[in-house]
Amino acid sequence: MNENLRNKLTLGGSLALAVILTACGGTSTSTATVSTGITPQKMADALHAVMESDRTVYTKKVVNRLQNEQQVIKASEHWEDDKALPLPAQMFRMGAEMVTAKNVGFTYGLLSKWPVNKQNAPKTEIEKQGLDFIDANGGTEPFYGEETLGDSKYFTAIYADVGVVTACVKCHNEHKDSPKTDFKIGDVMGGVVIRIPVDS
Ligand code: HEC
Repeated sequence: MNENLRNKLTLGGSLALAVILTACGGTSTSTATVSTGITPQKMADALHAVMESDRTVYTKKVVNRLQNEQQVIKASEHWEDDKALPLPAQMFRMGAEMVTAKNVGFTYGLLSKWPVNKQNAPKTEIEKQGLDFIDANGGTEPFYGEETLGDSKYFTAIYADVGVVTACVKCHNEHKDSPKTDFKIGDVMGGVVIRIPVDS
């Protein structure tokens, strides 16, 4: 990386710059951490704060308001055919897929021990441990771990995904593919996993 750029980034030291620095290449993540003083954990926490806020805003101000409160339009898995709103999980995944396609060096997704869509079940050991951890503490603390997948080492953080409004729990409880039908508002319904590549 260009030395001038690195100096500017070091001076700035903000998260936005760390994200840009990471975007310069997946393998430069740990350089970014050293030169800006931002650890993978802080970066994951900040990314999650943005994701969680967007997800909550969409669910509360769009889906819950228009579907459950004002009954103007429904949210549907088949939103294109049904001319409906995409589900919050679908909005989240469309964003995650776009980020993966950008190759910015981190990935994220939504998982659950009680998945409506079996594809969203935990697969790696760390994902299982993380979901158990956030479930046991009621979502008060995130889970942090490290894992090696293929040839790459990752810092992996898992944050509780909480049923914040009626729409969340009602839709899951009533869904024919949901293995759990007694979610309540405030329950941990799953987890957001964020993976940041680190040098081994
Ligand atoms: C209108 C129905 C609906 C609403 C509202 C809804 N969900 Fe979902 N949710 C689904 C469906 C269907 C899936 C599976 C989507 C997929 O991956 O194809 C899903 C996926 C998920 C997943 C991933 C695991 C799984 O079950 O497949 C989590 C976690 C989750 N939702 C939590 C929430 C939370 C928390 C809210 C509120 C913020 C919410 N959902 C709102 C229907 C809904």
